[in-house]
Amino acid sequence: MLVIIGKDYDGMSREAANIVADRIRRKPNLVLGLATGSTPLGLYRELIRMYKGGSLSFSKVITFNLDEYIGLPRTHTQSYAHFMQENLFKHVDMDPHYIHIPDGLANDIDAHCEWYENEIQRWGGIDLQIVGIGANGHIAFNEPGSSLGSRTRIKTLSQQTIEDNMRFFKKKDEVPKFAITMGIGTIMEAKEVLLLASSSNKADAIKAAVEGPITAMVPASIIQMHRKAYVILDREAAAKLTQQYEQR
Ligand code: F6R
Repeated sequence: MLVIIGKDYDGMSREAANIVADRIRRKPNLVLGLATGSTPLGLYRELIRMYKGGSLSFSKVITFNLDEYIGLPRTHTQSYAHFMQENLFKHVDMDPHYIHIPDGLANDIDAHCEWYENEIQRWGGIDLQIVGIGANGHIAFNEPGSSLGSRTRIKTLSQQTIEDNMRFFKKKDEVPKFAITMGIGTIMEAKEVLLLASSSNKADAIKAAVEGPITAMVPASIIQMHRKAYVILDREAAAKLTQQYEQR
């Protein structure tokens, strides 16, 4: 596990973007796992900048997103499909046929989850997976207590997550209560994992994930078992780490 501490959010985003861009340049048909949330926004901005500058193309890149809410159409402004469209896909030369995001309106959710896993395998497995971390140590929608071997499946959102999400919806009963998420086992099979965290509200989770014991109560701690993982932080997220790490 390589921990890299950037000077600030932009520094962290640049470090992450340089790794992603390097992998795409080496393998134009990279299978890239993507996350939503506020943390990777800087990374996506940087990748868009590289594309617009002519130094990067996404035309052959295959993407798989970590998760999606159940019950929201792709066009809903709070769906992760919409997030990806707005914050990355519409700004670069992605082929829409190569984009994979779990379908929150699938009729048979279990069959869809199985299809998603098989689709990842069909493309040769994920080469590089980007993940964020929740303040409680979750990765994707794998909340504390999730099986460390879990696969893509339906998860009930925690009460906390439902309450946190209320501000994004007009009516309380519009807030999704379920999501489809890649499992921890799915994420761990990616050839490389890039975990990003910024700001002080992630410092405890990062301390537990990077220097604490591996436990299902801190799902992100499984990253210690990965053969090729990068943890890219800003100084605030790294503030509670006690070992020496690479400062950039
Ligand atoms: C997003 C995801 C979540 C977020 C995490 C951090 O696809 O799966 O696990 O990565 O909740 O969210 P932010 O970056 O908004 O702090």
